[in-house]
Amino acid sequence: MTDPHPKLALLRPDDWHLHLRDGASLATIVRHTARVFARAIIMPNLQPPVTTVAAAAGYSERIRAALPAASPFVPLMTLYLTDNTPPSEIERVHASGFVHAVKYYPAGATTNSDSGVTALERVYPALEAMERLGVVLSLHGEVTDPGVDMFDRERVFVDTLLSRIGRDFPGLRVVLEHVTTREAVAYVREADAPIAATITPQHLLWSRNALFVGGLRPHHYCLPILKREAHRQALVEAATSGHPRFFLGTDSAPHARHAKENACGCAGCFSAPAALEMYAEVFEDAGALDRLEGFASRHGADFYRLPRNTDHVTLERKPWTVPDQYPFGADALVPLRAGETMRWRVADAAR
Ligand code: DOR
Ligand code: ZN
Repeated sequence: MTDPHPKLALLRPDDWHLHLRDGASLATIVRHTARVFARAIIMPNLQPPVTTVAAAAGYSERIRAALPAASPFVPLMTLYLTDNTPPSEIERVHASGFVHAVKYYPAGATTNSDSGVTALERVYPALEAMERLGVVLSLHGEVTDPGVDMFDRERVFVDTLLSRIGRDFPGLRVVLEHVTTREAVAYVREADAPIAATITPQHLLWSRNALFVGGLRPHHYCLPILKREAHRQALVEAATSGHPRFFLGTDSAPHARHAKENACGCAGCFSAPAALEMYAEVFEDAGALDRLEGFASRHGADFYRLPRNTDHVTLERKPWTVPDQYPFGADALVPLRAGETMRWRVADAAR
């Protein structure tokens, strides 16, 4: 008899792009990721942002304190690049051993990006130091010019700023985060430079139509915004191709229910509770389950020059229903796929 619940063992994955926030809600958020993932790149867009290695050390401590003492989860910290980040701070990143990337938010591009970079030239001294020392630049790849259509902001970023970065810093290690367009995929695939890209579950699962099914769907709103179906297909092709420059980064970004279901709703999808399970659906539908392990568990570690994990998780093809909401400190938080049945579940997830 065939197994009613086929299983798929994977090297334990890492999440190469994650928002955990801070304070009282931290414990209610980090557990979702630590359940499945060994490590995660922790985004620095707190208020105030994490702009120094000293601040990153404090944040890392608070993340660890929010986990059970025996948790093996490792937060991989990042710094928030500003117009004023001195090369000496990049030297400290390089020497730290626990800060693994420096994040470039164009000022005003997204949640808590007000202190971000106002002009590329302003960060040339920091980028020079990063290129020299091999520090990874993590990019929110969207222009912020209000004259540029919302759906074109990534493509224009690739054509302008990313091309300039590639030309002026050919040795700089770059991760183009949460790619959403075929142009970004093509750039990453073809660039003659050490560049890679993360891809979220929502951009693999849905086109922009998902924002408007029967009405406005705030829980599908994130930045960069969902794009046309042809772009989604290019992302699925890249993720499932086995190409080592593409890897898992959920961009799970919690906002309280009232902040999402609002006249001016926040950008961000909370995907952590069912993230690996969503990627498994995408890879299964593409007939590429055998490539999920590379995308989820090998390519990112290799790019970041970190050891691959050695233990495993087991995905089981056994339906379960995603809760309607989770606690978020004293608030509530609506996950992606709330109330929906997932095909895959992580079987041995008690961590
Ligand atoms: O949708 C998003 N939410 N995109 C980002 O770039 C930031 C994130 C957040 O922090 O909420
Ligand atoms: Zn993000």
